[in-house]
Amino acid sequence: MKILALISFLIGLTAATGDDLHYVDPLIGSTAGGNVFVGASLPYGLAKPVADVDGQNTGGFSTDGSNVTGFSHMHDSGTGGNPSQGQFPLFPQLCRDNIVDNCRFGKTDRATHYIQDSVVARPGYFAVRLENGIHAEMTASQRTALYRFKFPETHASNGDTLDPVILLDLTDLWSSRQNASISLDADSARIVGNGTFLPSFGAGSYRTFFCADFTGAEVRDNGIWVNNRAGSEPKALYVTRGFNNFYLQAGGYVTFERPDDGVVTVRVGVSYVSSQQACTNAEAEVPAPGKDFARLEQEAVDSWSEKLSPIKITAGGMSDAMISAFWSGIYRTMLSPQNMTGENPVWKSDEPYFDSFYCIWDQFRAQLPLLSLIDPETQTNLIRSLLDTYKNEGWLPDCRMSLCKGWTQGGSNADVVLTDAFVKNLTNIDWELAYKAMVNDAENEPLEWSYEGRGGLQSWKRLNYIPYLDFDYLGFGTNSRSISRTVEYAYNDYGLAVVGKGLGKSENTKYLSRANNWRNLFKADQKSVLENGTDTGFTGFFQPKYLNRTWGFQDPIACSALASWCSLTSNPSETFESSIWEYLFYVPHDMAALIKLLGGPDSFVKRLDYFHTSGLADIGNEPVFLTVYQYHYAGRPALSTARAHNYIPRSFNASTNGIPGNDDSGAMGSFLVWSMMGLFPNAGQNVYLISAPFFEAVEVTHPITNCTATIRNSNFDPTYRKVYIQSALLNGRPYTKNWIGHEFFTQGMTLELMLGEHESDWGTRVEDLPPSLSDNQARDEATVGMHGVGMMGS
Ligand SMILES: *[C@@H]1O[C@H](CO)[C@@H](O)[C@H](O)[C@H]1NC(C)=O
Ligand SMILES: *[C@@H]1O[C@H](CO)[C@@H](O)[C@H](O)[C@H]1NC(C)=O
Ligand SMILES: *[C@@H]1O[C@H](CO)[C@@H](O)[C@H](O)[C@H]1NC(C)=O
Ligand SMILES: *[C@@H]1O[C@H](CO)[C@@H](O)[C@H](O)[C@H]1NC(C)=O
Ligand SMILES: *[C@@H]1O[C@H](CO)[C@@H](O)[C@H](O)[C@H]1NC(C)=O
Ligand SMILES: *[C@@H]1O[C@H](CO)[C@@H](O)[C@H](O)[C@H]1NC(C)=O
Ligand SMILES: *[C@@H]1O[C@H](CO)[C@@H](O)[C@H](O)[C@H]1NC(C)=O
Ligand SMILES: *[C@@H]1O[C@H](CO)[C@@H](O)[C@H](O)[C@H]1NC(C)=O
Ligand SMILES: *[C@@H]1O[C@H](CO)[C@@H](O)[C@H](O)[C@H]1NC(C)=O
Repeated sequence: MKILALISFLIGLTAATGDDLHYVDPLIGSTAGGNVFVGASLPYGLAKPVADVDGQNTGGFSTDGSNVTGFSHMHDSGTGGNPSQGQFPLFPQLCRDNIVDNCRFGKTDRATHYIQDSVVARPGYFAVRLENGIHAEMTASQRTALYRFKFPETHASNGDTLDPVILLDLTDLWSSRQNASISLDADSARIVGNGTFLPSFGAGSYRTFFCADFTGAEVRDNGIWVNNRAGSEPKALYVTRGFNNFYLQAGGYVTFERPDDGVVTVRVGVSYVSSQQACTNAEAEVPAPGKDFARLEQEAVDSWSEKLSPIKITAGGMSDAMISAFWSGIYRTMLSPQNMTGENPVWKSDEPYFDSFYCIWDQFRAQLPLLSLIDPETQTNLIRSLLDTYKNEGWLPDCRMSLCKGWTQGGSNADVVLTDAFVKNLTNIDWELAYKAMVNDAENEPLEWSYEGRGGLQSWKRLNYIPYLDFDYLGFGTNSRSISRTVEYAYNDYGLAVVGKGLGKSENTKYLSRANNWRNLFKADQKSVLENGTDTGFTGFFQPKYLNRTWGFQDPIACSALASWCSLTSNPSETFESSIWEYLFYVPHDMAALIKLLGGPDSFVKRLDYFHTSGLADIGNEPVFLTVYQYHYAGRPALSTARAHNYIPRSFNASTNGIPGNDDSGAMGSFLVWSMMGLFPNAGQNVYLISAPFFEAVEVTHPITNCTATIRNSNFDPTYRKVYIQSALLNGRPYTKNWIGHEFFTQGMTLELMLGEHESDWGTRVEDLPPSLSDNQARDEATVGMHGVGMMGS
C-alpha cells in the first residue's frame, strides 16, 4: 500500500521545470571578486568573447561600472589574482573628423563607460552598449569569436558621416605581452598575428594566434598604430620589450564606410598552434560570418541545454532567484576546463587535451565530482588529458593554464581527482598509468615542486610529516605551508592506497600508513587565543614541527579573517590561504579519528560551531566546503543542514555579488549545486553526505547508464522551516545512513525524505555514519558498499 502510494506520488511530481536554460544568469558573480567570465562560450569552449573593463577584469568584464577597454576572445573564469588572457582586444570607435590620428589608441585613452542596463548576458550571447553609442554583441563557436558592432550615425564638423574604426591592440588584460606580430592584408582587410604572453598564475610563457576578418562594410583603409599615431603603411609590425622592459602600445586598425545598418561584423579565429590554424578554425566554424550569428547562438544554446539536461528539478515554490543560482552554478562548472584538443603545440598526441585547470586545488572538492556525475564522458576526457600531461611533461598538474604549469597550492590533488573517478568506476581510463602518475607524486621529488609534484619528500618518508623550515636540497618551492601540505599529502596518499588496493598493488599498506601522517602535527595541548586575549576555550590544534621533532608555533587563528590574509606570494605561512583552525578539519578520510582526538562528537560539534560562527570559517575559499557537512561524521546531520541554510542564500545567491569569493572555475558554483541537491561529495571517496534538497525534488539521469536517481522532500517547505530529515526511504524501504554511494546515481535509486522542524534521530547512530579509515566497522561497510544497503532494505 505504502509503495503504491509512493509511486503515484512520484508520477505526480516528475514534470520538471521545462527548459531550464533561461534560468542561467552569467552575471552572477560578476562583481565583488567573483571574477566569473560572463561572455559567450560553448561548454568547455576555447573562444570566450566578452567586453574587457579596466575595473575588476580578472575574467574580462565586471558589472562594477568601470570602463570598457576592448573586446577580446579568450578568457578564464572565476580565477583570482592577475587577470588571465584577453589577448588582441578589438576596440570599435568613431574618430573626430575621420582623422585616424584622432582615434583613441592606448587602453587608458580609449577606456569608455558602458551603459549599465544595456548589459545582456545569457548562454552563448553577450551584449553591451558603450556611452559613445556603439552597441556590441557577441557569440562564440569552439575556437571562434563572432562580434557585431553597431555604430551610430554621427557626423563630422564638415557634415560627413563618421567612419567606423576598429582597432586591434597587441596586448592582453594583464599587459604581459613579451613580443607580438601583426600583419594586415590590404585588400581583404584580414588581420593575422601572434604574441607571447605570461600565464596569470604559472611559470614560463605561451604564444597565441589570431585571425580576424571583417564583413558588412566596405573597407576604406587599414594599417598599424604605435602609441598615439597611426599610418596605412606599413601593413605589418613586430613589437618586443626593450630597455627597462618597456611596454609599447601598438596594434592595427581598419576604417570602414558606414553601412546603412551601421553593423560591422568581425570574426576572430583563435589558436595556440598558428595563425593559419586560427584562420582555418574560423573558416570551418563560421563560414558565413555575416549570416552565422544566430546559428552560432542557437548552437551554443543547444549545447548548454544538452549539458544541463541530466538534471531536472521540481521547485516546489522555491524562489526563482535560487533556481537561477542553482542552474547558473552548474553552468559555470563547464566554462572551464577548456577543450583545447587539437590546439596543443607542446606535444603531439591523439589523446584529448584540456587546459585551464585553474586550479585543481579548487576544483577537486566539488566541481570535478559534479562533472563525474552529470558529464562523465567529459570527466573521463579531462582525466585522460591529465594523464597525457603526466606522460609528456613528467608530472600531473596541480594547476595549469594557457599551456603553462601553474603554481601548486598544497598537495598533489590530481591524485584525489583520479581516486574519485576510480571509486566512481569511470571507464576508458588507463588506471595503470594513473597509478604510476600517483606513485610518481608520492615518491619522486621534482626539482621544481612549486609547479609539479610534492616537496619535502625525504622528510615525508623519514619523519612522516612536512617539517617547519625543512632541509630540502632536492627541489625548489616556497618552503612554507608545512601544515597544509602535511594534511593534503596524507589525503593524497590515502587515495593512492585506495587505487592501489583496487588494482591489487602491494604497496597499499605503506600508503595507508602515510595517510595517518596528519596526526604527527597534532599538538594536544595547543590553545587558541583571539587577538583581544580571549581564549577560544579549545585545546588541541595542528602546529608546525621542526626537523628535530620539536614544535614551532603558528597562531591557530593566523590566516583567518580574525587575523590576516595569507597568500603564497605575499606572506607564505605554514597554512595556505587559510588558518590552522580551518585545516584542522581537513582529514576527509578519517573523521572518526579526528573527532576522537578532539574529545568526541559533542566537543567536535562545539568546535565546528565555534569555527563557523566566530569568523574563523572562510566561506569564500574552497577548504571550507567539507566543514559545512562534517557534522554528519559526529552523528548530527541536521546541523550540517542548518549550516548549509545559514550560508545559502546569505553568501551564495543570484546577485551579481552572489559568490562569496573567486568562483575559481566554477568551484564555488558547484558547492551551491551539491548543497541545494541535498548531497555533498567527500571527494576521493564513494560517499555523498545526505541533507534535504533546497527544492521539492531533484532528478539526475545518469548520462551513461540512463538511470534516473530521484531525491524528494515529501513534505517540502519552501520557507525552510522544515529542513530536518525525520526519516528516509530508499527505493521505498527505510534508510537510516546519513550518506550514500555513487551507485545511487548509476543505478537510479529514489530517496524520499520526510522533513520536520526539528533535529531528529535519523542518521545519528554510529552505524549510520559515513566510513572512516580508522573505524573498522564503517570501513567494512564501505567496502561492501551498496550491497550493504540492499541487505538493509531486504
Ligand atoms: C573610467 O573612466 C573614467 C573617465 O571616463 C575615469 O574617471 C575612471 O577612473 C575610469 N574608471 C576606472 C575604474 O578606471
Ligand atoms: C618572444 O618572447 C618569448 C618570451 O620572452 C621568447 O622566448 C621569444 O624568443 C620571443 N620571440 C621573438 C620572435 O622575439
Ligand atoms: C607571428 O606573426 C608574424 C607576422 O605575421 C610572422 O612573421 C611570424 O612567423 C609569426 N610567428 C609564428 C611563430 O608563427
Ligand atoms: C573536444 O574537442 C574535440 C576536438 O574539437 C572534440 O572532438 C571533442 O568532442 C571535444 N570534447 C568535449 C568533451 O567537448
Ligand atoms: C563499481 O564497480 C564495482 C564492481 O563492478 C561495483 O561493485 C561497484 O558497486 C561499482 N561502484 C559504483 C559507484 O558504481
Ligand atoms: C574578543 O573578540 C571576540 C570576537 O570578536 C568577541 O566576541 C569578544 O567579546 C571579545 N572579548 C573582549 C574581552 O573584548
Ligand atoms: C630544534 O630546532 C629548532 C629550530 O632550529 C630550534 O629552535 C630548537 O632549539 C631545536 N630543539 C632542540 C631540542 O634541539
Ligand atoms: C549574496 O551573496 C553575497 C556574497 O556572499 C552577499 O554579500 C550578499 O549579501 C548576498 N545577498 C543576499 C540578498 O543575501
Ligand atoms: C542510454 O541512452 C543513449 C541514448 O538514447 C543510448 O545510446 C545508450 O545506449 C543508452 N545506454 C544504456 C546503458 O542503455
